[in-house]
Amino acid sequence: MDCIHLPTYSIHFGELPKLSHDGKVLIITNSKIAGLHLNKLLSHFSANEIYCICLQDGEEYKNFNSIETILEAAFNHRLNRNSLMIALGGGVIGDMVGFAAGIFMRGIPYLQIPTTLLSQVDSSVGGKTGINNRFGKNLIGLFNPPKAVYIDTYFLQTLPNREFSAGVAEIIKMAVCFDRDFFTFLQEANLEDTNILKEIIYRAVSIKAKVVLEDEREKGIRAALNYGHTFGHIIERLGNFSEFLHGEAVSIGMIMANTLALKLNLISNEEFTNIKNLLNKFHLPTHYKINNKEAFYSDFFLDKKSLDHKIKFILPNKIGAFVIKDNLPKELLLETLASFE
Ligand SMILES: NC(=O)c1ccc[n+]([C@@H]2O[C@H](COP(=O)([O-])OP(=O)(O)OC[C@H]3O[C@@H](n4cnc5c(N)ncnc54)[C@H](O)[C@@H]3O)[C@@H](O)[C@H]2O)c1
Ligand SMILES: [Zn+2]
Repeated sequence: MDCIHLPTYSIHFGELPKLSHDGKVLIITNSKIAGLHLNKLLSHFSANEIYCICLQDGEEYKNFNSIETILEAAFNHRLNRNSLMIALGGGVIGDMVGFAAGIFMRGIPYLQIPTTLLSQVDSSVGGKTGINNRFGKNLIGLFNPPKAVYIDTYFLQTLPNREFSAGVAEIIKMAVCFDRDFFTFLQEANLEDTNILKEIIYRAVSIKAKVVLEDEREKGIRAALNYGHTFGHIIERLGNFSEFLHGEAVSIGMIMANTLALKLNLISNEEFTNIKNLLNKFHLPTHYKINNKEAFYSDFFLDKKSLDHKIKFILPNKIGAFVIKDNLPKELLLETLASFE
């Protein structure tokens, strides 16, 4: 089994191994994933006592109520500082369990067993955890790395195609910002081939792990993981978080960022087309209609990353590198948005 070691935890690749814990364990999942995969986890895990709770499925349940449900279960079952929580699910479950584990009795360990492509390549690695509230997404949370992450492509067999593609968007994001060879590899790759899929996941996680190792608290290069997200978050919000999956909104967001990068001569027309073709290859959306560019522009300032009213844009600098721009003139941004009217 391949493994990537970070200073405080390891990321394991391959078939989920037999695991055990000397203490109580609380598995947190949702009703859908429980039906598909809880038995597999239970058959691979032994502990003094194992409890499971199923939250409701959906981003709309990534909130304080669900955190309370997790904490209630933890207290009801008398978990203590020697106990362990396990997140079995996508990014929603992973982010919530990381947060709940971080605040229960001032913090107990937890494992990430990501079951979506997005959570395998992105959200389960890096220690960002949290929930949404009415002011926005992921505004409440902690940096709280797991004890370990187990990435097994077996779980992806039941993932709907759209969810799979949404995960590919985050992989393309990493290739464009950090690794030209990986980008070229993706252009040729057939992800229906399990070995290729495994290699791609491993390469994407390696990039993410390297980035968070260098910059855990997002003071520098970790910001590059937000390529496509400054635009994407607005697209998600304008679609009431139901029209587009996160990865789909990020795909359109990357096209918008690339339109800006093209105007700044950071990428060529050919590179612009290559990125678009790669997104289309994986059935990701690349078209979008902006109804009101002034309104879209003012939405930039709702992002928690727009510190001091400066909007930070991550732009590709050719393929395989990036630049951060936080002082672009409003006229240029409106001109970019106008290309989508
Ligand atoms: N912490 C981070 O660094 C980070 C990074 C990126 C995204 N995120 C967060 O991750 C979340 C998105 O994660 P996601 O895309 O995994 O969404 P998700 O957790 O909502 O999962 C998507 C859907 O797939 C279902 N599902 C999960 N595993 C399945 C499987 N194996 N088979 C069939 N269905 C399955 C889920 O029940 C859900 O309906 C967002 O809340 C986002 O904010 C966090
Ligand atoms: Zn993302």
